[in-house]
Amino acid sequence: MMLTIGLHPPLRGIIFLITLSFTYASINRQAIVSLYNPVRTSSDPNTPMQVGNGNFAFGADVTGLQTFLPFAIMSTWGWKNDSFPPGRTLEDIKDYKGVSWDSHGRLVQYEFGGEADIQQWLISNPNRVNLGRVGLLFLDDEGREVVVEEKELEAVHQELDLWKGTIKSQFRYRGEQVKVEVRSSQSDSAIAVSVDSPLVLKGGLGLFLDFPWKDGSQKFSAPFVGTWNETSKHTTTLAHGPHFGVNVQAQITHTLVNSTFFTSIGSPDRLQVLRVSSDAHRYSVLPSRGQDSPLETVIGYSQNESRGVQHFDDIVSESEEAWNEYWTRSGFVDVLTGSTDPRANELQRRIILSRYLMRVNEASDLSPQESGLVNNGWYGKFHLEMTFWHLAHWALWNNWEILEKPMAMYQRFLQTSIDRAQDQEGYSSGARWSKMTDPSGRSAPGQINELLIWQQPHPIVFAEYEYRAKPQKKTLEKWRDVVSETANWMANFAWLNSTSGYYDLGPPMYVVSEDTSPNVTRNPAFELAYWRFGLDLASTWMERLGEQVPGPWKTVRDNLAPLPLENGLYSVYEGLEESFWEDPAYTNDHPALVGLHGWLPQTPGVDVKIAKATADKAYLSWNISNCWGWDFPMLAMSAARNGEPDTAIDWLLHPLFQFDVVGMPIGGVRVPTPYFPGSGSLLFAVAMMAKGWEGSSTDAPGFPRIGFNVTTEGMATAL
Ligand SMILES: *[C@@H]1O[C@H](CO)[C@@H](O)[C@H](O)[C@H]1NC(C)=O
Ligand SMILES: *[C@@H]1O[C@H](CO)[C@@H](O)[C@H](O)[C@H]1NC(C)=O
Ligand SMILES: *[C@@H]1O[C@H](CO)[C@@H](O)[C@H](O)[C@H]1NC(C)=O
Ligand SMILES: *[C@@H]1O[C@H](CO)[C@@H](O)[C@H](O)[C@H]1NC(C)=O
Ligand SMILES: *[C@@H]1O[C@H](CO)[C@@H](O)[C@H](O)[C@H]1NC(C)=O
Ligand SMILES: *[C@@H]1O[C@H](CO)[C@@H](O)[C@H](O)[C@H]1NC(C)=O
Ligand SMILES: *[C@@H]1O[C@H](CO)[C@@H](O)[C@H](O)[C@H]1NC(C)=O
Repeated sequence: MMLTIGLHPPLRGIIFLITLSFTYASINRQAIVSLYNPVRTSSDPNTPMQVGNGNFAFGADVTGLQTFLPFAIMSTWGWKNDSFPPGRTLEDIKDYKGVSWDSHGRLVQYEFGGEADIQQWLISNPNRVNLGRVGLLFLDDEGREVVVEEKELEAVHQELDLWKGTIKSQFRYRGEQVKVEVRSSQSDSAIAVSVDSPLVLKGGLGLFLDFPWKDGSQKFSAPFVGTWNETSKHTTTLAHGPHFGVNVQAQITHTLVNSTFFTSIGSPDRLQVLRVSSDAHRYSVLPSRGQDSPLETVIGYSQNESRGVQHFDDIVSESEEAWNEYWTRSGFVDVLTGSTDPRANELQRRIILSRYLMRVNEASDLSPQESGLVNNGWYGKFHLEMTFWHLAHWALWNNWEILEKPMAMYQRFLQTSIDRAQDQEGYSSGARWSKMTDPSGRSAPGQINELLIWQQPHPIVFAEYEYRAKPQKKTLEKWRDVVSETANWMANFAWLNSTSGYYDLGPPMYVVSEDTSPNVTRNPAFELAYWRFGLDLASTWMERLGEQVPGPWKTVRDNLAPLPLENGLYSVYEGLEESFWEDPAYTNDHPALVGLHGWLPQTPGVDVKIAKATADKAYLSWNISNCWGWDFPMLAMSAARNGEPDTAIDWLLHPLFQFDVVGMPIGGVRVPTPYFPGSGSLLFAVAMMAKGWEGSSTDAPGFPRIGFNVTTEGMATAL
């Protein structure tokens, strides 16, 4: 694989295929993947089993549908606005101004504070919708709906075929066998549902569709999204006919305030679609009388009423092909075969299920939200500081076809981020990246949202990974403006302290752990190291392009304040008393100090010995029982780089870092389930530990020599 770098793309493609069939022959991928097919025999009230494609996902209960539990159907494109606050208009919203805060003697304009109702509207809008619900409908001999409970089903068995992206559920109801198979389209927002049962022919089984109300009154909507009883707040209408686009027999139009979504229903057979009652948004989808089993239905969701739906068979084959390609053509890590360490099996399970769920929930055109497409957190918005944990693993697992899509966000949001820097600080250059963000690139108001800074260097790191995968002029040019405006802001934000002669970061600012006072936070250790790392990479980028490195980048990089030291250990920020190690106010959130050497590679200005001693102290002093999600892989990466692979494995399997039966990363003490930064960071850490990092000298440097046999295929090395 290394040999192919630098060749022209067409030739590379050919050689890639050859090396692929050659090098990828050793691991029996299908056997390992299929070993971890999740199985359930009853619904889990907390997490669904899912199918999806990264931009659209369907969450199922044990019936393969949403018969008993209204898990969500979510997308990257389905958003709505609530009505404006009473007495407010669009003009009021557009005129929103926050407050001015002092920053080194200047007033800086931030988007928080100001009029509370408008601020809250902007935080909670737009919010992400749940597109609907699809369940099994049971009917009696007269064709009337029967209310069935899950406990009435017998011999219930559900399995997710990971290799093919298919949910297979079966059970007996009143002695009759029912088999349901569900797949997701890979090119559209649609599911293909097959219901195979003697009950179909008898007219005893069909589907129901339902539609929830959803607004921005809840920051978190988990495990379910929306309400089903507030039926007067939204409308649905049903229309029949072939004029709705290819293959569509009936279409339901769902309107919430000013946003309209279309649900299109198709089938190889004739269907009867009826509204169940006029004051609810529930519809029945039934086979025609005498219809033989299986009942095959396609249900597609769109904002385009003419979009049509694919043929059932096309979704089936597309799903199988796409998943087959994903499993066979990406990187792969086998920690199981030949390992004797009892931890290997659970680690491999987490790897496989995380790989599946990342493609279902996070292979999207936008940065994913923390809960992917399972349910809503933060109103469905996404956080740009979290992009590293959600997306960087794609680079190490060689999924550039996936990573390229959300990366385009940095080009798309560049102008509004340049405007943000100008509006806030009056800088004449530089782009300040947002934190909590909607699809238009708008930043949600809020102190932490406006004052956090560790999202800033991320795009430079992503650019660097892309250049390593594709070391071409094209890559350099593609990222040029993003890298350059990102670094411009980093240089502008650093403030020359004439007393010390150094460039300081903050105040005001928030650190990674978001728990220090923004007005006194100055020179935090992690952010200083990340600034140095980012400015170094950005400078190299310009040199590769043959352009001059802007003077301020060099000046700031070479004169950044030294990392704060207290009694031989790095400190969260400068001036914090050493006693902070014993103060729960500072040791209860993300322990970013362990990221100084681990998450970050060896960086000028960071003394590796001190960083290791600081990490050792953090292991003992931090309130680990309050850690969650990516904290554990970050701790593992620190242990791995500091030469403690056994500890690294333990962090990845820490009792507070759990993945349930279907692989959903449990939110833990602080956030609802799932919390996908946990899965993304697990895959990043595993890749780094298995394939190595720049300068690591042994195979699988993050794994213990004894007990683990690690094989990798098609993986990339971490920085
Ligand atoms: C929500 O409102 C904002 C502000 O008017 C607008 O820019 C955005 O396009 C709207 N989004 C949706 C999904 O209606
Ligand atoms: C919804 O549309 C109406 C009519 O165009 C408009 O007056 C109202 O401001 C819109 N509401 C929102 C939240 O965009
Ligand atoms: C931070 O400083 C601003 C003024 O610059 C002030 O309004 C605000 O209350 C201060 N915040 C805290 C937490 O002290
Ligand atoms: C809907 O149900 C919720 C939860 O049971 C309840 O709090 C709410 O008042 C109900 N709303 C209506 C309109 O019935
Ligand atoms: C809607 O879908 C139809 C059929 O695929 C397509 O021709 C049309 O361009 C689409 N409209 C929009 C606005 O995307
Ligand atoms: C400048 O740096 C010195 C030494 O680190 C520090 O004591 C002082 O508070 C800084 N000045 C400002 C205005 O932050
Ligand atoms: C540590 O975290 C746990 C779990 O959230 C919490 O209950 C406990 O109060 C924390 N301990 C301290 C000293 O803050």
